[in-house]
Order: sequence, then structure tokens, then C-alpha cells
Amino acid sequence: MKRSFLDPSPGTLAFGGLVFTSLVLVAIGPPSARKPWAIENASSPASAPSQVAGPDITLVSVSVDLPDDTVPFPDGPHAAVINANCTSCHSATMALSQPRLSRDQWKAIVEKMRATYKAPVPASAVPEILDYLTAMSGKLPVNGSPTAASADRSGGTG
Ligand code: HEC
Repeated sequence: MKRSFLDPSPGTLAFGGLVFTSLVLVAIGPPSARKPWAIENASSPASAPSQVAGPDITLVSVSVDLPDDTVPFPDGPHAAVINANCTSCHSATMALSQPRLSRDQWKAIVEKMRATYKAPVPASAVPEILDYLTAMSGKLPVNGSPTAASADRSGGTG
């Protein structure tokens, strides 16, 4: 049986497919040849802010240096639990900077973290986190130095 170009044999089809796939892969290049989009397009801090102007709007890129705050919650009752549950979104310092609050007030904050901000904090961890916050609240250092908090571990409320 004579086959035309428009009626290729299965073998020809398979070979053609192989050649086509190879050409596509060569065109794309190896993974190492590609940079992630974000890196390619991120403006380096040294460069002047880039600007995109539209008909009614001008978008300006700015570069912001966020503070590098890796201070954990200082030692205290269930410090490990609160460090495991409460440091993924904001620094411990952020939570430590609150005034002395009652257990109920802390409970409202922790529930806000869970319900509103979707913090993946298991309900079983909440009482321990409240123990920590109630015991440590007001004694916590706002400057991130753990010494102020570790000075008094009496657990007293006064
Ligand atoms: C899913 C992310 C997330 C997690 C996890 C999380 N938080 Fe927050 N937290 C937020 C956001 C968002 C804010 C609000 C930040 C702002 O207002 O600038 C916030 C604010 C706070 C504040 C400031 C007071 C307030 O009411 O806004 C405290 C205190 C706090 N968090 C404590 C905690 C504690 C304790 C935990 C662990 C139980 C926790 N956070 C876990 C997202 C989170």
C-alpha cells in the first residue's frame, strides 16, 4: 500500500513525534538555563525604583528592608509550644510587645489568630499557649532580649 505524506504510517508518525518532542525540548533548554521569574524581574536594591505608567495609574516599585527578627519566645511554661505555633507569620517580638493582658484577653487574641488569620494552631495547644502568655505577659522584653523575662520565673501575678 502506498502512503502519502498526508497518510503517514504509524512508524512515520512515531518518528515524527520523537523529532518534534526533541526539538521542543532543545528549544526550552535545560532547567539550569532558566531563572525563576521572580529573580529575573526583582529589582536589585541598588537600582533606582522602576516605574510602570498606565493611562490613569503609575506603579512604582520600591524596595523595603524588613527587620531580621529571629528572637524566639523566651523560656517559660510551654515555651516550645508557643514557639512552634506562633512564630510562622510574625516575630515573637511582635506578640511580646503587648501590654500585660488577662488570660481572657489573650484567649481572644489567640482565637483571632486561629479564626481570622487562619493560624494552624490545634485547639489542644491553646490552653498551654494561654498559660505561657498569661504567666509571661508584662514581663516579656520588648527589645527581644530574653534576660528581662528570665529574671522572674515565680509565676506570680503581681
Ligand atoms: C497565620 C498567621 C499567624 C499566626 C500563625 C499567628 N498570628 Fe498573630 N497575627 C497575625 C496577623 C496577620 C496579625 C496582625 C498584624 C497586624 O495587625 O499588623 C497578628 C497579630 C498578633 C498580635 C498583635 C495584637 C493583635 O491583636 O493584632 C499578637 C499579640 C499575636 N498576633 C499573637 C499571636 C500568637 C500568640 C500566636 C500563636 C497562637 C499567633 N499570633 C500566631 C497572624 C498570625
